[in-house]
Amino acid sequence: MPGTVERMTAMLHRKTSSMRSAAASLRGEAAAPGDKSVSHRALMLSSQAPGVTRISGLLEGEDVLNTAKALRSLGVTIRQGEVWETEGVGIGGLAESAEVLDMGNSGTSTRLLMGLVAPYPFTTFFTGDASLSKRPMKRVIEPLERMGAKITARRGHLPLAVTGAADMLPARYRLPVPSAQVKSAILLAGLNIAGKTTVIEPQATRDHTENMLRFLGFKVEVSTLSHREGDGGGRGERRPHPEGGGDVAISIHGHQRITPANHEIYVPGDPSSAAFPVVAALLCRDSRILIRNVCVNPLRAGLFTTLKEMGAKLECKNERMVGGEKVADITAETSALKGVVVPAERAPSMIDEYPILAVAAAFARGETAMHGLSELRVKESDRLAAIVESLAACGVSARAEGDSLYVKGGDVKGGATIATHFDHRIAMSFLVLGMASNDPVTVDDATAIATSFPNFVQLMNGLGAKIEMPDVGCQAPDRKASSGIHPLVIAVDGPAASGKGTLARRLAEHFGLDYLDTGSLYRAVGMKLVYAGKDPRDRAAATEAAQTIDADDLSNPRLRQEHIGQAASVVSAFPEVREALLEFQRNFARSANGAVLDGRDIGTVVCPEANFKFFVTATLYARARRRHKELSGQGIEVVFESVLDDLRERDERDGKRAIAPMKPAGDALVIDTTVLDAGEVFERACGVVEKSREAEKQHAC
Ligand code: DC
Repeated sequence: MPGTVERMTAMLHRKTSSMRSAAASLRGEAAAPGDKSVSHRALMLSSQAPGVTRISGLLEGEDVLNTAKALRSLGVTIRQGEVWETEGVGIGGLAESAEVLDMGNSGTSTRLLMGLVAPYPFTTFFTGDASLSKRPMKRVIEPLERMGAKITARRGHLPLAVTGAADMLPARYRLPVPSAQVKSAILLAGLNIAGKTTVIEPQATRDHTENMLRFLGFKVEVSTLSHREGDGGGRGERRPHPEGGGDVAISIHGHQRITPANHEIYVPGDPSSAAFPVVAALLCRDSRILIRNVCVNPLRAGLFTTLKEMGAKLECKNERMVGGEKVADITAETSALKGVVVPAERAPSMIDEYPILAVAAAFARGETAMHGLSELRVKESDRLAAIVESLAACGVSARAEGDSLYVKGGDVKGGATIATHFDHRIAMSFLVLGMASNDPVTVDDATAIATSFPNFVQLMNGLGAKIEMPDVGCQAPDRKASSGIHPLVIAVDGPAASGKGTLARRLAEHFGLDYLDTGSLYRAVGMKLVYAGKDPRDRAAATEAAQTIDADDLSNPRLRQEHIGQAASVVSAFPEVREALLEFQRNFARSANGAVLDGRDIGTVVCPEANFKFFVTATLYARARRRHKELSGQGIEVVFESVLDDLRERDERDGKRAIAPMKPAGDALVIDTTVLDAGEVFERACGVVEKSREAEKQHAC
């Protein structure tokens, strides 16, 4: 059950993934990560264009990887590399997926793919994580059902099944809510439906789908209507369209014949991500930065317009067109901001930016009023409530009334721990607030940041920010027996690919201790079974193997194979196997030289008396990246998602088993290595051991 795994992973990380930011000034240049909206569309739309499309700068965040995975399940060949490649199957070329499409946290992937699969006479099942399962899907279900698809959803939410039909009808549909995702879902369905499908927009929304379709050779017609059109059940107030006149109609003809061609797509930097360093530079003293290659499509640039109105020293330079999108380099420097009124009609062009705008408003002179924010209630979290609650925690006066938000600017205290509700933009916004407030700010869980901005901390710290993982919630390691002299026992636990082995080896080398990788014991048991043609689930055979492993088994190069890791995880759940290996590990720990042991239960079961206990972890995504890179380095070609799935499966099994489940000991120091390199992890752990031994030596004197 993927949902269960995610919840478990999130729970595992909850204790370990808080982050804190403190006052800083920013200088230098950086490039924002690829735009999320464009990345999703680059993969999806190129799958519809016959020919090979090479995609550079794709955002390799979890949401986009879920799109890639879903497309692969639907029969599209996608190759991952520095430059990604998709082989277009053409209109009507998707295949029925044998699997349920797990969309993780991604609303864009879900809604657009629902449209893409709707005109196919088969059923596609969608699921997602807890947060995505709360987001409204009726807005897509309704028009797709009108066009002839049958959709079964749990009260208008995920999980849901789309059963399409080959004879769907083209629609003329007026959007009741301004949503680029709904517009795109209808247009993507229209690609594979005979006739002309038209979406009427009373209010402009992101046009990346239209731009990308055109770039790939499809014809998309856009016209301004001289009147307001009544069809489509639109109930919303008409608001002026930036293109002037009445509603705008966007039409696509189905089954277009386009000449096969190869394409190159360069994904521009995401303005929604660039927003964080840009606002941070405006707020922090003595700052000046340049962010290169940012998408400044007018329908995405609402934040930059607003910040300029607030008095920001912000400039877009070197504007150019790349892959159908307008791109620029943005400079930002320390500015004295003033409060403004942000009109409702600007909301679609900056819907994701209100959390960071609210942070900017907290430092502005006077009040900022932001209108038309009803969509914020149905984002990754109830963002409107989260913004108000988090600002209040930092001493800022803010209130939500209807779909408006009011923030009074002034001196910002900070000093709070913010509940992010697994919302990446709340997490990043309040880390930015902490860079300019009087006291540092902590966010309780920064793991969600990886969904849109995997290198957020590196980029910000590279510009001079001070964002770090506080060791809060971790008790100091027990030092009672260390006495500054051997024997010293260090326990290092953690999930696969967290970096625990590297840390353990370095500590052993540094302090002259013996080292045991206890995972190799379980691997040896798994290997014996696999190479004897036995099933690792065979309890009796596993027990016998555990009782008979020898030193030669432990140096067998096959131990490191991925399928042996999986087998090890299976056999390690048998109490008899653990029992058979326990005494060996405890004896090893009693070595006269002192010892470092790494594994899953060293601090909790094998050596609860260890002098120092570390629990090394990292987000699932970061660990999968490392493992994937390691395997590629060894010339082993594996699909990234399968590495991700393997680790996920192993985490679940190792963490859920009844006996000695993987978990940090209550007195372990938890180190999250998501944004640390091996040297930094070692420095941190080594510093703890050395400081404590030094203190004890002095105490002994
Ligand atoms: O650390 P590793 O990937 O080599 O470990 C392989 C498996 O062995 C792991 O998935 C769970 C099991 N293991 C365990 O249960 N307890 C340990 N102390 C070490 C490993």
